[in-house]
Amino acid sequence: MKVYVSRDSAARSVGADEVAERIVAGSNNADVVRTGSRGMLWLEPLVEVETAAGRVGYGPVAPEDVDGLIAAGMLDGTATDNWLGLVEELPWMKRQQRLTFARVGVIDPVSAVEYVAHGGMSGLRQALAMEPADVVEAVVDSGLRGRGGAGFPTGIKWRTVLGAAAELKFVCCNADEGDSGTFADRMLIEGDPFTLIEGMTIAAYAVGASEGYVYLRSEYPDAVATLRTAIAVAQKEGWLGPDVLGSGFGFDLQVRVGAGAYICGEETSMLESLEGKRGMVRAKPPIPALEGLFGRPTVVNNVLSLATVPVILANGPAAYAQYGTGRSLGTSVFQLGGNVARGGIVETAFGITLGELVNDFGGGTASGRPVRAVQVGGPLGAYLPVEQFDLPMDYEAFAAAGAMVGHGGIVVFDETVDMAAMARFAFEFCAAESCGKCTPCRVGAVRGVETIDRIVAGDNRRQNLTLLDDLCDLMTDGSLCAMGGLTPMPVRSAVRHFGEDFNA
Ligand code: NAI
Ligand code: SF4
Repeated sequence: MKVYVSRDSAARSVGADEVAERIVAGSNNADVVRTGSRGMLWLEPLVEVETAAGRVGYGPVAPEDVDGLIAAGMLDGTATDNWLGLVEELPWMKRQQRLTFARVGVIDPVSAVEYVAHGGMSGLRQALAMEPADVVEAVVDSGLRGRGGAGFPTGIKWRTVLGAAAELKFVCCNADEGDSGTFADRMLIEGDPFTLIEGMTIAAYAVGASEGYVYLRSEYPDAVATLRTAIAVAQKEGWLGPDVLGSGFGFDLQVRVGAGAYICGEETSMLESLEGKRGMVRAKPPIPALEGLFGRPTVVNNVLSLATVPVILANGPAAYAQYGTGRSLGTSVFQLGGNVARGGIVETAFGITLGELVNDFGGGTASGRPVRAVQVGGPLGAYLPVEQFDLPMDYEAFAAAGAMVGHGGIVVFDETVDMAAMARFAFEFCAAESCGKCTPCRVGAVRGVETIDRIVAGDNRRQNLTLLDDLCDLMTDGSLCAMGGLTPMPVRSAVRHFGEDFNA
């Protein structure tokens, strides 16, 4: 009988390895498959057992409960303790539209056989049967926009690289997922790394690149190991190498591990780091699409953007573009974290409201106190009050509200949060992570901390609030990159929506 236990690092951190070992030790005939995580993190370690009706879940299962659950019939789905029913029928799973994450939590992440059995490689096969320019146009038509945060149309970026004449071009995947409250890149790489490899290979074919790099943060050791194993398997299968799937097209891929600087997630800093230099931001233009890695035309995309490309090619761009709203098409992978009852991964069409994500999926706060604020889009994203919970997850709607969807991280805070402290933290974070190249960010972040301290102390409050506003204008307009340019967003939103916290 088949039993599935996650090998994702979130599941391992709460005992999934021990649970798997105890199942093997406590049963004669259980075939334990280690998968990625379904993303229902409050249920980990989650054990799924195959039954005639489908996979039945038990969770969370503590290692010490395994023997008792096996004795009660867990392995044939009849034990009643911790019983969740059919996993695919759970409301959390049923309400989602999983395209990018379709296989995560379902298959053994490094099994080529399972990958192909679940539809893997059909996007690449489809792409290789098309002209490269037609592959680019399919991605344009799908409406896919950069999932790293900026939301730039992926196909348009590829069109620029395709049109650049050069003997050598690169595809670089930005997996330096530094935003607080985000973990989708990690879970995708740990749960379905072949999808990323397939997406990068399609990108390379489309733009005429022959080499690829994944820039992966050192804080993700499990993802590094899983991706390296998957690349070795892909090379053996002929999915990478001098003759990809017998097409005559050659592409190979390497992993580079970053050293923990937030700014190395900024694309030009990442390229400097990949070249072996200190991670400093480059001035744009030139954009990396024209002069990127080692000065060559380079596709730089986030993990989720690249991992979504195979399903677009496999099902056609129109099938993908039918999801979503306005100019935010397809699905996005939202990540619920912070003080939330049910944290994890929700992949759903754009247009779902913030309130549906936080309340319906998340179940409100873990503390049981009322929600007071959520920060969307990482440490540079805005804080939103519950009055804005009807805001749809849509790039333009968020921009109009002075906020950003970013990489899709949603961090929940209850009524005990001190929003002046959170605004101060935004400046502190910027001061710590600034690359130091430009003055508005390097100096402005430090002055921002001091100014908030004076406001909170009641020292010339009105004048200092005006000064804070001026400083935010300066940083927004004068910073070289998003680090300094977006730090004012959380600060301003905290002052705007939670001004009472800034009183002495
Ligand atoms: P950007 O708006 O300057 O650029 C977006 C992308 O489009 C870049 O790759 C740029 O090179 C490309 N581009 C622009 N014009 C182009 C053209 N004509 N042809 C081809 N490519 C073109 O934004 P940036 O500075 O790259 O990213 C800022 C965003 O990063 C923020 O909105 C934030 O949400 C996000 N972010 C994400 C983090 C994470 O951990 N995922 C961390 C920090 C910020
Ligand atoms: Fe460096 Fe900050 Fe300027 Fe970006 S805004 S280039 S991180 S100093």
